Amino acid sequence: MMIAKCKQDELLTWEDVEKMKYSWNVARESIRLAPPGQGAFREALTDFKYAGFTIPKGWKIFWNVNTTHNDPKYFPDPEKFDPSRFEGSGPVPYAFVPFGGGPRMCPGKEYARLEILVFMHNFVKNFRLKTLIPNEKIIYRSTPVPEKGLPVHLYPHGQGRI
Ligand code: HEM
Repeated sequence: MMIAKCKQDELLTWEDVEKMKYSWNVARESIRLAPPGQGAFREALTDFKYAGFTIPKGWKIFWNVNTTHNDPKYFPDPEKFDPSRFEGSGPVPYAFVPFGGGPRMCPGKEYARLEILVFMHNFVKNFRLKTLIPNEKIIYRSTPVPEKGLPVHLYPHGQGRI
């Protein structure tokens, strides 16, 4: 918001984006609760045991984002929207995994962060938004999406009030 105020007619710079810590915490908390990808497959390179299950070498395993993102051990009161979870050192490694982890982690992560922050900046700077369906249901079509496509009214700043 501070950047939105002081950057009325100028384009964002890389330095500005790096300062958008709170916005990124909000974005991360959003993708913790509604991760765009649900996980990915891995192939077991050796036999191993996990949580009482034996996984033989060669089996395909689907690691899942939601179970970790909703684990109260890593995210206390997991259903609460709370961007402050990401302040300071934030969640422990491999607890927040919307982009995966390890050598096959999403290579588009930083590009996605840039896109999200630039979008948020321009959106907040130019519009107020009113959702037309309060508490619209979220459904899963392999990724979580609002059931009716999130219809909204956009109000350019300075025109009309909501
Ligand atoms: C919010 C946006 C995004 C999310 C949540 C996301 C999430 C993911 C996840 C969960 C994986 C699997 C990682 C793993 O197996 O450990 C992945 C892989 C991948 N992502 Fe993304 N992604 C996003 C944006 C992007 C963008 C913008 C690009 C390209 C410009 C991209 C390119 C890729 C590619 C190429 C892979 C495959 C990597 C590999 O298997 O080595 N992603 N992403």
